[in-house]
Amino acid sequence: MHATPTIRAVPSTGYEELLSYLSALMRDSGRNGQPHFTANRDRDVYDKPFNDRIRARLALPLQRRGWIRLWIAVDGDETLGHVDLRASDRTADAHRVLLGLGIAKAHRGRGLGRALTQYAIDWARTNGHDWVDLNVFAVNAQAVALYRSLGFVQTGFHADRFRIDGDSVDEISMALDLRT
Ligand SMILES: CC(C)(COP(=O)(O)OP(=O)(O)OC[C@H]1O[C@@H](n2cnc3c(N)ncnc32)[C@H](O)[C@@H]1OP(=O)(O)O)[C@@H](O)C(=O)NCCC(=O)NCCS
Repeated sequence: MHATPTIRAVPSTGYEELLSYLSALMRDSGRNGQPHFTANRDRDVYDKPFNDRIRARLALPLQRRGWIRLWIAVDGDETLGHVDLRASDRTADAHRVLLGLGIAKAHRGRGLGRALTQYAIDWARTNGHDWVDLNVFAVNAQAVALYRSLGFVQTGFHADRFRIDGDSVDEISMALDLRT
């Protein structure tokens, strides 16, 4: 199915509602037939100080460095997937945003990852950003294929970036140039 999903922004006050979705998504990384896709699998997603920092960044206006914007694809009350964009804390790279993405396992392969990524790209362009950056594990072939098909090009290769469960994980950096 490649229906257009309902995508909505998550306000700073709504972040807590995502935690069970994020917990299930992250716990699966490198397990149950999934490639490693995050270095944060074993982080406590319910950690309050961490989440307070995320909420504070979600609440920042775009004029302030360090902002985060987060969108989810929903079906009623169910979160199907998410995409986020992050600004660094510097002004020198205020023309760039960093993308993160995830789709609930039961809802993969139906176009949601593509739709959410395209949504974030369109938002970045509309809001005057020139580049969308991301980091993806080389072993995560589906994600790499998705990003390539949307025009991202490889900008870096970080061999042995992480070691997870004894596996050496290479990381690829990719970027999409929005200036053309
Ligand atoms: C990677 C991920 C986001 C893809 O989301 P998705 O909703 O399943 O992807 P889509 O259905 O939109 O497919 C988009 C593209 O991904 C690739 N893709 C998806 N499923 C694939 C599969 N089983 N095999 C190969 N490529 C695949 C294809 O290029 C596909 O293009 P198409 O639409 O022309 O077929 C999803 O698998 C996921 O959440 N994985 C775990 C978290 C993760 O890896 N996040 C990214 C970290 S950088």
